[in-house]
Amino acid sequence: MTTVTEQLVKHIDEAYAMEQNVLRMLDRMIETSEDPAMKQHLQQHKHETEQQAVRLKTRLEAHDASPSMVKEATGIVGALMKGVLDMARGEKAGRNARDGFATEHMEIASYELLERVARRAGDEETAQVARVNRLEEEAMAEKIAQSWDKAAELSLREAGVEGTAPATSS
Ligand SMILES: [Fe+2]
Repeated sequence: MTTVTEQLVKHIDEAYAMEQNVLRMLDRMIETSEDPAMKQHLQQHKHETEQQAVRLKTRLEAHDASPSMVKEATGIVGALMKGVLDMARGEKAGRNARDGFATEHMEIASYELLERVARRAGDEETAQVARVNRLEEEAMAEKIAQSWDKAAELSLREAGVEGTAPATSS
């Protein structure tokens, strides 16, 4: 038997561990990003992510819990992390954009669930944290979405293809 509050704590804990993994992922992306604008977006989002983790930790503490760094949460971003950390071959710009976009959407999904579980547990503060964090992930996903053309171009250049121009551009 388990209570909704116990499940809520588990969700907050997983979100916290997820953000810790995302921080490592962002570090690697900042390191490998050659586009100044994207580098700046990533740095800003790293700062936001640190604040997100602090907010989650505060909610864990409100439930007399502390981060356990659960294995499942490592698994959530694990596959994506692997892609980012394995930068032996080129195409960093494209892979960073792809994996970054996927990660932001995974985070958005986690916060959509967390917000609802928090409401069911009557924990408005955690619901609010989930909402605030989600809005930041959505903004970051949007920034990545605006850079697809540039990411594709940089990717091709990294792979040694020169002088390509898109047939159409958006
Ligand atoms: Fe995040």
